[in-house]
Amino acid sequence: MNQSLFQQFAALVTQNFGIQLPPEKKALLESRLFKLKNDNMGRPELASDEAFLKYIREDKTGKGLAMLAEAITTHHTFFMREADHFSFYEKEVLPYLEKSIRDGDMRTWCAASSTGEEAYTLAMMLEDHFGSLPGWETTLLATDLSKDVLEIGKNGVYSAESVKTLPALWQNSYFHRTIDGKYQVVDRLRHKVLFRRFNLMTPVFPFKRPFHVIFCRNVMIYFDNTTRDNLVRKFAEFLEPGGYLFIGHSEVIDRHKSDFDYVMPSIYRKKGAFT
Ligand SMILES: C[S@@+](CC[C@H](N)C(=O)[O-])C[C@H]1O[C@@H](n2cnc3c(N)ncnc32)[C@H](O)[C@@H]1O
Repeated sequence: MNQSLFQQFAALVTQNFGIQLPPEKKALLESRLFKLKNDNMGRPELASDEAFLKYIREDKTGKGLAMLAEAITTHHTFFMREADHFSFYEKEVLPYLEKSIRDGDMRTWCAASSTGEEAYTLAMMLEDHFGSLPGWETTLLATDLSKDVLEIGKNGVYSAESVKTLPALWQNSYFHRTIDGKYQVVDRLRHKVLFRRFNLMTPVFPFKRPFHVIFCRNVMIYFDNTTRDNLVRKFAEFLEPGGYLFIGHSEVIDRHKSDFDYVMPSIYRKKGAFT
Protein backbone atom coordinates (compact mmCIF):
# COMPACT_ATOMS: atom_id res chain seq x y z
CA MET A 1 0.00 0.00 0.00
CA ASN A 2 1.46 3.37 -0.88
CA GLN A 3 1.83 6.15 1.70
CA SER A 4 -1.03 8.25 0.37
CA LEU A 5 -3.49 5.34 0.48
CA PHE A 6 -2.36 4.49 4.01
CA GLN A 7 -2.92 8.09 5.09
CA GLN A 8 -6.42 8.11 3.62
CA PHE A 9 -7.33 4.92 5.51
CA ALA A 10 -5.71 6.26 8.70
CA ALA A 11 -7.72 9.50 8.44
CA LEU A 12 -10.98 7.56 8.02
CA VAL A 13 -10.18 5.34 11.00
CA THR A 14 -9.32 8.27 13.28
CA GLN A 15 -12.26 10.37 12.15
CA ASN A 16 -14.81 7.59 12.68
CA PHE A 17 -13.44 5.50 15.54
CA GLY A 18 -10.93 7.78 17.28
CA ILE A 19 -8.19 5.18 16.73
CA GLN A 20 -4.79 6.59 15.76
CA LEU A 21 -2.85 4.84 13.03
CA PRO A 22 0.69 6.28 13.11
CA PRO A 23 3.04 5.37 10.21
CA GLU A 24 4.44 2.35 12.07
CA LYS A 25 0.95 0.79 11.95
CA LYS A 26 1.02 0.57 8.14
CA ALA A 27 2.07 -3.10 8.14
CA LEU A 28 -0.71 -3.88 10.63
CA LEU A 29 -3.34 -2.20 8.44
CA GLU A 30 -2.01 -4.04 5.39
CA SER A 31 -2.21 -7.42 7.07
CA ARG A 32 -5.70 -6.79 8.49
CA LEU A 33 -7.00 -5.69 5.08
CA PHE A 34 -5.33 -8.70 3.47
CA LYS A 35 -7.20 -10.98 5.88
CA LEU A 36 -10.46 -9.14 5.21
CA LYS A 37 -9.95 -9.68 1.47
CA ASN A 38 -9.19 -13.38 1.98
CA ASP A 39 -12.23 -13.89 4.20
CA ASN A 40 -14.47 -12.22 1.60
CA MET A 41 -13.14 -13.67 -1.66
CA GLY A 42 -15.08 -12.61 -4.74
CA ARG A 43 -16.55 -9.40 -3.36
CA PRO A 44 -15.66 -6.71 -5.91
CA GLU A 45 -15.62 -3.93 -3.29
CA LEU A 46 -12.75 -5.78 -1.62
CA ALA A 47 -10.80 -6.66 -4.75
CA SER A 48 -8.11 -4.11 -3.89
CA ASP A 49 -7.37 -1.63 -1.11
CA GLU A 50 -8.29 1.21 -3.47
CA ALA A 51 -11.65 -0.43 -4.26
CA PHE A 52 -12.37 -0.89 -0.56
CA LEU A 53 -11.57 2.74 0.24
CA LYS A 54 -13.85 3.89 -2.59
CA TYR A 55 -16.62 1.56 -1.37
CA ILE A 56 -16.41 2.90 2.21
CA ARG A 57 -16.55 6.48 0.95
CA GLU A 58 -19.54 5.91 -1.32
CA ASP A 59 -21.48 3.49 0.88
CA LYS A 60 -24.37 5.15 2.70
CA THR A 61 -25.40 2.08 4.73
CA GLY A 62 -22.47 2.14 7.15
CA LYS A 63 -21.56 -1.45 6.17
CA GLY A 64 -18.19 -0.48 4.70
CA LEU A 65 -17.20 1.41 7.85
CA ALA A 66 -18.39 -1.49 10.00
CA MET A 67 -16.12 -3.85 8.03
CA LEU A 68 -13.23 -1.45 8.51
CA ALA A 69 -13.99 -1.31 12.25
CA GLU A 70 -13.89 -5.11 12.49
CA ALA A 71 -10.63 -5.18 10.58
CA ILE A 72 -8.82 -2.52 12.56
CA THR A 73 -9.84 -3.11 16.18
CA THR A 74 -7.76 -5.11 18.66
CA HIS A 75 -9.76 -7.17 21.13
CA HIS A 76 -7.24 -8.60 23.55
CA THR A 77 -8.87 -9.14 26.95
CA PHE A 78 -9.13 -11.79 29.66
CA PHE A 79 -10.96 -12.58 32.89
CA MET A 80 -9.74 -10.62 35.92
CA ARG A 81 -7.51 -8.38 33.81
CA GLU A 82 -6.02 -5.71 36.11
CA ALA A 83 -7.44 -7.60 39.06
CA ASP A 84 -7.01 -4.83 41.63
CA HIS A 85 -9.84 -2.95 39.89
CA PHE A 86 -12.22 -5.81 40.47
CA SER A 87 -11.30 -6.17 44.10
CA PHE A 88 -11.83 -2.41 44.59
CA TYR A 89 -15.21 -2.68 42.84
CA GLU A 90 -16.20 -5.64 44.99
CA LYS A 91 -14.86 -4.49 48.34
CA GLU A 92 -15.29 -0.70 48.20
CA VAL A 93 -17.63 0.36 45.44
CA LEU A 94 -20.47 -2.15 45.80
CA PRO A 95 -20.86 -1.83 49.60
CA TYR A 96 -20.74 1.96 49.22
CA LEU A 97 -23.39 1.94 46.49
CA GLU A 98 -25.59 -0.38 48.50
CA LYS A 99 -25.57 2.16 51.34
CA SER A 100 -25.96 5.22 49.14
CA ILE A 101 -28.44 4.36 46.40
CA ARG A 102 -31.93 4.81 47.74
CA ASP A 103 -34.12 3.54 44.90
CA GLY A 104 -32.32 0.19 44.44
CA ASP A 105 -31.44 0.99 40.81
CA MET A 106 -27.71 0.56 40.21
CA ARG A 107 -26.20 1.11 36.78
CA THR A 108 -22.76 -0.01 35.55
CA TRP A 109 -21.44 0.54 32.03
CA CYS A 110 -18.62 -1.54 30.65
CA ALA A 111 -17.56 0.53 27.62
CA ALA A 112 -15.30 -1.23 25.06
CA SER A 113 -16.15 -4.61 26.57
CA SER A 114 -14.61 -6.69 23.77
CA THR A 115 -15.59 -10.39 24.07
CA GLY A 116 -17.29 -10.01 27.46
CA GLU A 117 -14.81 -11.31 30.04
CA GLU A 118 -14.65 -7.93 31.79
CA ALA A 119 -18.45 -7.51 31.83
CA TYR A 120 -19.07 -11.03 33.14
CA THR A 121 -16.51 -10.53 35.91
CA LEU A 122 -18.51 -7.47 36.98
CA ALA A 123 -21.78 -9.40 36.57
CA MET A 124 -20.57 -12.18 38.88
CA MET A 125 -19.60 -9.62 41.51
CA LEU A 126 -22.94 -7.85 41.19
CA GLU A 127 -24.76 -11.14 41.52
CA ASP A 128 -22.71 -12.16 44.59
CA HIS A 129 -23.40 -8.83 46.24
CA PHE A 130 -26.94 -7.91 45.23
CA GLY A 131 -28.37 -11.26 44.03
CA SER A 132 -30.00 -12.12 47.34
CA LEU A 133 -30.91 -8.56 48.35
CA PRO A 134 -34.58 -7.84 47.71
CA GLY A 135 -35.56 -4.72 45.80
CA TRP A 136 -32.33 -4.26 43.80
CA GLU A 137 -32.19 -3.82 40.03
CA THR A 138 -28.59 -3.92 38.78
CA THR A 139 -28.16 -2.96 35.15
CA LEU A 140 -24.93 -3.90 33.39
CA LEU A 141 -24.50 -2.44 29.92
CA ALA A 142 -21.59 -3.82 27.83
CA THR A 143 -20.79 -1.98 24.61
CA ASP A 144 -18.20 -2.22 21.88
CA LEU A 145 -17.62 -0.96 18.36
CA SER A 146 -17.20 -4.47 16.99
CA LYS A 147 -20.25 -6.63 16.30
CA ASP A 148 -18.15 -9.79 16.17
CA VAL A 149 -16.92 -9.46 19.75
CA LEU A 150 -20.41 -8.59 20.98
CA GLU A 151 -21.71 -11.86 19.50
CA ILE A 152 -19.02 -13.75 21.40
CA GLY A 153 -20.00 -11.88 24.55
CA LYS A 154 -23.68 -12.66 24.07
CA ASN A 155 -22.93 -16.37 23.65
CA GLY A 156 -20.65 -16.29 26.68
CA VAL A 157 -18.63 -19.37 25.66
CA TYR A 158 -14.98 -19.39 26.80
CA SER A 159 -12.13 -21.87 26.76
CA ALA A 160 -11.29 -23.89 29.87
CA GLU A 161 -7.89 -22.17 29.78
CA SER A 162 -9.39 -18.69 30.06
CA VAL A 163 -11.84 -19.57 32.83
CA LYS A 164 -9.28 -21.31 35.02
CA THR A 165 -8.09 -18.00 36.53
CA LEU A 166 -11.53 -17.59 38.16
CA PRO A 167 -12.33 -18.85 41.66
CA ALA A 168 -13.69 -22.43 41.67
CA LEU A 169 -16.91 -21.22 43.24
CA TRP A 170 -17.55 -18.94 40.29
CA GLN A 171 -16.64 -21.62 37.76
CA ASN A 172 -19.21 -23.89 39.37
CA SER A 173 -21.97 -21.37 40.00
CA TYR A 174 -21.80 -19.17 36.93
CA PHE A 175 -20.70 -21.53 34.13
CA HIS A 176 -21.77 -24.87 32.72
CA ARG A 177 -19.61 -27.18 30.62
CA THR A 178 -20.45 -27.47 26.93
CA ILE A 179 -20.17 -30.81 25.13
CA ASP A 180 -16.86 -29.76 23.62
CA GLY A 181 -15.31 -29.00 27.01
CA LYS A 182 -15.76 -25.23 26.96
CA TYR A 183 -17.42 -23.13 29.60
CA GLN A 184 -20.60 -21.21 28.96
CA VAL A 185 -21.92 -18.51 31.25
CA VAL A 186 -25.25 -19.68 32.69
CA ASP A 187 -28.36 -18.13 31.17
CA ARG A 188 -29.44 -16.28 34.28
CA LEU A 189 -26.14 -14.35 34.30
CA ARG A 190 -25.95 -13.94 30.52
CA HIS A 191 -29.37 -12.31 30.55
CA LYS A 192 -28.16 -9.77 33.07
CA VAL A 193 -25.60 -8.30 30.67
CA LEU A 194 -26.95 -6.12 27.91
CA PHE A 195 -24.51 -6.27 24.96
CA ARG A 196 -24.97 -3.40 22.50
CA ARG A 197 -22.95 -1.91 19.65
CA PHE A 198 -21.80 1.57 20.54
CA ASN A 199 -19.09 3.78 19.09
CA LEU A 200 -17.44 5.89 21.78
CA MET A 201 -17.02 8.62 19.14
CA THR A 202 -20.81 9.07 18.94
CA PRO A 203 -21.25 12.85 19.30
CA VAL A 204 -24.29 12.70 21.60
CA PHE A 205 -24.54 9.79 24.02
CA PRO A 206 -28.06 8.35 24.03
CA PHE A 207 -28.33 7.18 27.65
CA LYS A 208 -31.41 8.19 29.60
CA ARG A 209 -29.90 8.03 33.07
CA PRO A 210 -26.33 8.48 34.28
CA PHE A 211 -24.32 5.50 35.53
CA HIS A 212 -22.89 4.86 38.98
CA VAL A 213 -19.80 3.14 37.56
CA ILE A 214 -18.09 3.23 34.17
CA PHE A 215 -15.32 0.82 33.19
CA CYS A 216 -13.52 1.98 30.05
CA ARG A 217 -10.22 0.19 30.00
CA ASN A 218 -7.53 -0.28 27.40
CA VAL A 219 -9.19 1.53 24.55
CA MET A 220 -8.18 5.15 25.19
CA ILE A 221 -4.56 4.11 24.53
CA TYR A 222 -5.54 4.11 20.86
CA PHE A 223 -6.90 7.68 20.98
CA ASP A 224 -5.05 11.01 20.90
CA ASN A 225 -5.12 13.37 23.90
CA THR A 226 -7.93 15.58 22.62
CA THR A 227 -10.17 12.61 21.80
CA ARG A 228 -9.43 11.09 25.20
CA ASP A 229 -10.13 14.37 27.05
CA ASN A 230 -13.44 14.79 25.20
CA LEU A 231 -14.45 11.25 26.04
CA VAL A 232 -13.53 11.69 29.71
CA ARG A 233 -15.70 14.84 29.75
CA LYS A 234 -18.61 12.81 28.38
CA PHE A 235 -18.05 10.10 30.95
CA ALA A 236 -18.28 12.79 33.64
CA GLU A 237 -21.53 13.98 32.10
CA PHE A 238 -22.95 10.44 32.19
CA LEU A 239 -21.85 9.55 35.72
CA GLU A 240 -23.77 10.30 38.88
CA PRO A 241 -21.91 12.71 41.20
CA GLY A 242 -19.62 10.48 43.29
CA GLY A 243 -19.67 7.84 40.53
CA TYR A 244 -16.54 5.87 39.64
CA LEU A 245 -14.53 5.75 36.44
CA PHE A 246 -12.08 2.86 35.89
CA ILE A 247 -9.56 3.22 33.07
CA GLY A 248 -6.71 0.96 31.94
CA HIS A 249 -3.52 0.75 33.99
CA SER A 250 -1.45 2.25 31.22
CA GLU A 251 -3.90 5.14 30.72
CA VAL A 252 -4.08 8.46 32.55
CA ILE A 253 -6.51 11.31 32.70
CA ASP A 254 -5.60 14.85 33.59
CA ARG A 255 -7.61 15.27 36.77
CA HIS A 256 -6.78 18.98 36.91
CA LYS A 257 -8.67 19.45 33.65
CA SER A 258 -11.53 17.11 34.49
CA ASP A 259 -14.42 16.72 36.91
CA PHE A 260 -12.74 13.75 38.59
CA ASP A 261 -10.86 13.20 41.82
CA TYR A 262 -8.07 10.66 41.88
CA VAL A 263 -8.80 7.56 44.00
CA MET A 264 -5.92 5.24 43.14
CA PRO A 265 -3.98 4.42 39.96
CA SER A 266 -6.49 4.34 37.09
CA ILE A 267 -9.55 4.77 39.33
CA TYR A 268 -11.25 8.17 39.47
CA ARG A 269 -14.34 9.51 41.10
CA LYS A 270 -16.63 12.21 39.79
CA LYS A 271 -16.67 15.20 42.11
CA GLY A 272 -19.72 15.48 44.32
CA ALA A 273 -21.76 12.93 46.20
CA PHE A 274 -24.87 10.91 45.59
CA THR A 275 -28.00 12.76 46.56
C1 LIG B 1 -8.08 -4.05 23.88
S1 LIG B 1 -9.82 -4.21 23.97
C2 LIG B 1 -10.11 -3.87 25.69
C3 LIG B 1 -11.13 -4.79 26.28
C4 LIG B 1 -11.39 -4.63 27.77
N1 LIG B 1 -11.94 -3.32 28.08
C5 LIG B 1 -10.14 -4.85 28.58
O1 LIG B 1 -9.59 -3.91 29.16
O2 LIG B 1 -9.67 -6.01 28.62
C6 LIG B 1 -10.32 -2.69 23.18
C7 LIG B 1 -11.76 -2.73 22.68
O3 LIG B 1 -12.14 -1.41 22.33
C8 LIG B 1 -13.01 -1.48 21.21
N2 LIG B 1 -13.04 -0.16 20.55
C9 LIG B 1 -12.07 0.43 19.80
N3 LIG B 1 -12.48 1.63 19.37
C10 LIG B 1 -13.73 1.81 19.86
C11 LIG B 1 -14.69 2.86 19.74
N4 LIG B 1 -14.44 3.98 19.03
N5 LIG B 1 -15.88 2.70 20.36
C12 LIG B 1 -16.16 1.58 21.07
N6 LIG B 1 -15.29 0.56 21.22
C13 LIG B 1 -14.09 0.67 20.61
C14 LIG B 1 -12.43 -2.60 20.36
O4 LIG B 1 -13.37 -3.14 19.47
C15 LIG B 1 -11.94 -3.59 21.44
O5 LIG B 1 -12.88 -4.60 21.66
